[in-house]
Amino acid sequence: METKQRRIRLNPRLRNLASSESLNSKKLIQPLFVVEGLQERERMDSLPGVFRDTELSVLRQTESDLKAGVDQFLLFLVPETKSNTVIPKSFYERSISTLKREFPDAFFWIDTCMCSLTTHGHCGLLREDGSIDNRGSVLHLSEIALTYARAGADGIAPSDMMDGRVRSHREVLDKSGFSNIPILSYSTKFKSNFYGPFRAAADSAPGHGDRSSYQIDVRNREDSLSSSVRDKEEGADFLMVKPGMTSIDLIRPIREATGLPTGAYQVSGEFASIHYLSQNGFCDFDAALTETWRIFSRAGASYLITYAARKGKELLA
Ligand code: PBG
Repeated sequence: METKQRRIRLNPRLRNLASSESLNSKKLIQPLFVVEGLQERERMDSLPGVFRDTELSVLRQTESDLKAGVDQFLLFLVPETKSNTVIPKSFYERSISTLKREFPDAFFWIDTCMCSLTTHGHCGLLREDGSIDNRGSVLHLSEIALTYARAGADGIAPSDMMDGRVRSHREVLDKSGFSNIPILSYSTKFKSNFYGPFRAAADSAPGHGDRSSYQIDVRNREDSLSSSVRDKEEGADFLMVKPGMTSIDLIRPIREATGLPTGAYQVSGEFASIHYLSQNGFCDFDAALTETWRIFSRAGASYLITYAARKGKELLA
């Protein structure tokens, strides 16, 4: 029988993420946005060095990131047409398979959610009365995960926060011959005010309401821990807290409670804050960024998702 231990041991990149060493450049994951139908790549004013890439420009970006020493990516695929029923399979397949064909040695995690896809911008499907259809959402998300796997995804990263999604994805992947594909779960993900710049990049802001019926309440420490424990029980290989800096107290407790590699996502709002401080002459961007990375390391983070992973080799040298 395949076990989780072997799924991680099989791949040198995953062994780097899971190791008990302190943070180093091999533990940094670089997010990339691929926007279908975009004519020219767009710079993000709030996130220095981050782009909304076209299907073509993401290839050049990946190539230069690999040269800079990054070998793990988190892909956000933003389809041209919103739909609550149709999965944009050809865009997903094309983007992932092209990247894997060009860069077979890079590791591509794919963010698995629906907020860039749905007409209302929520992370799941809604019923007529506007409430979340948890079961329908999970089935749809598992089908998306399977589409990613078939296209050549190296890992699945569910970020929607529906109940039971990790178990469902694991079952679907295993049944379809993808038992080696790991799941990196956004397991302790809060409803937060720090995702603003991301939602502009991924075109994923909710049209009405907020995400408090599925993302964790920042006041609830028990839920923060039990959500990660649950994802371990459902079969997650890697756990994560998000936003990173405001969840710093939870990293080591989660790691100790689960025995799983637990990382942090330094989200767009945190990254932009450092940028705004430095732009106004109040700090040096690289120095302040490196300080936050050292703190993630002190707090026990096994790995880090950060928009400046491509500077990791230089900054952590
Ligand atoms: C998708 C998703 C979000 C982020 C990562 N995946 C946005 C959200 O939950 O609203 C945020 C990342 C960031 O702010 O950098 N659900």
